[in-house]
Order: sequence, then C-alpha cells, then structure tokens
Amino acid sequence: MQRPYTIIVSEVTVDGKLTLRKGRSSKEIMQYMDDEANRYLHEIRAKVDGIMVGAETIRTDNPFLTVRYVEGKNPTRIVPTSKANIPLDANILEKHAPTIIVTSNSAPQERVEALSKKVEVIKCGDEEVDLVEMMDTLYKKGIKSLMVEGGSTLNWNLLRLGLVDEVRLIHIPFIVGGEDTPTLVGGEGFYSFDDVIKLKLRAHFTRGSHLITEWEIKFES
Ligand SMILES: NC(=O)c1ccc[n+]([C@@H]2O[C@H](COP(=O)([O-])OP(=O)(O)OC[C@H]3O[C@@H](n4cnc5c(N)ncnc54)[C@H](OP(=O)(O)O)[C@@H]3O)[C@@H](O)[C@H]2O)c1
Repeated sequence: MQRPYTIIVSEVTVDGKLTLRKGRSSKEIMQYMDDEANRYLHEIRAKVDGIMVGAETIRTDNPFLTVRYVEGKNPTRIVPTSKANIPLDANILEKHAPTIIVTSNSAPQERVEALSKKVEVIKCGDEEVDLVEMMDTLYKKGIKSLMVEGGSTLNWNLLRLGLVDEVRLIHIPFIVGGEDTPTLVGGEGFYSFDDVIKLKLRAHFTRGSHLITEWEIKFES
C-alpha cells in the first residue's frame, strides 16, 4: 500500500476545540485568525497535491478549500462520504479546482450519478469509505502530498489507521469549553498509553498573533 505524505492542519482553541458548539461552523472561529495566520494556512494549501475534509465539514461549513491568501495553485479537493451525501449546491462542486468525491459501494446510485455530472466520483469500500484503500488510490492518481483540514471524526480515523505523518496547529487564543464541542480528534479514543499517538515537536513559532506548532508522528519501528 502506498499513500500520500499526509499533514493534518487545524485551527484549535487553547482547549483544543474546533468550533464554538457541536454542529456549528468553524468559520465562526476562523474569522478571528489574522492575515498572517491565514497566509500560513494557504501557503500549505498551495504546496500540496490534495486537500481533504470530512463530509460533515462540507455539510456544516460549506468551504471552498481554495488558495486565496497567497499566490499558488489550488490543490485537488477530496471528500470521503460513504453514502455520497454531499449537497449538490456545495461550493466544492464548483469549478474553482478539481474535486474528487470518495464514496462506497453502498451509496445510492442516483446520488453518485448526480455528483458524477459535476466532479469525479470514486468508490473505495463496501459499506463505508475504506480510508486505506482510498489513500492507495489517491497516491496512484498523483496525490503524493495531502493536507487534511478536519473535522474531528476524519482526523481520528486517519490517525488510528496510521495514515498521518504530521500535525500542524494554528492556536486560537480562546477557551470555549463544552463537553460535546468537537476537539481536534474525536472518535472512540485510545484506552492504553501503548496505543496513543506519540508526537515529536518539530517547530514552534508565531505567525501574526498566533502560535503555530508543528508535530511529527513518531511511528513505532
Ligand atoms: N477548526 C478547524 O480547523 C475545523 C476544520 C474542519 C472542520 N471543523 C469542524 O468540525 C465539525 C465537523 O467534524 P465532524 O467530526 O462532525 O465530521 P468530519 O470529520 O468533518 O466528517 C465526518 C464524515 O466524513 C464521512 N466519512 C466517510 N467515510 C469516513 C471514514 N472512513 N472515516 C471518517 N469519516 C468518514 C462521514 O460522512 P458520511 O455520512 O457522508 O459518510 C462522516 O460522518 C464541524 O463543526 C466543522 O466546523 C473545524
């Protein structure tokens, strides 16, 4: 199996939250990012072959996932959605950049056909999107480097499967609290310190008024 070099890039509050409440758009928090921090984010977008978010982020935030704060080419936008559940008026279906929807064999045929009229749709997995197969397929399609911009469910599944190489965080100087407010990584979580993902701090610096931290995943040898 081959896969792209994969970097999770996320804006997180000091208490590790991605949004103000469950179900709310991260755009509310991102509006407090200054231009320098936005340039940092968009510099990464301009360098990678692909940019991925989970389908819930498309349904909640309706992002464009394009390069805007710096000069550069737009990466291919990639969204896993097991039942091909992407609104047909989603911004990522517009022609600003190439888009690949990754779905499964369980997706209703009419949704697959409707999306296929607008963008490329590929199938990986039977009931749900098989993320390992997806990464292999993307690599073969020329996506050698990939950034993942959340949300917490996709982050968890990619991390637990060992499909992530780096985590880069733009720290937002807020504490929002809330027990079910999404954090950087959701899912079931690990039960043992043997299983937790170990990281090595590679860099920390400020961009504008924001602390940036860059972490490498330590793979067990
Ligand atoms: N601060 C930030 O940087 C940031 C960035 C992004 C998002 N967010 C926030 O995060 C929240 C959304 O996060 P979320 O955790 O609810 O959802 P998410 O991670 O964005 O999307 C999860 C969805 O992806 C689809 N999917 C298909 N196959 C999958 C697989 N194998 N593993 C994981 N997901 C798969 C599923 O949707 P289907 O049912 O369609 O299959 C699943 O429900 C929003 O509030 C958004 O604003 C914040």
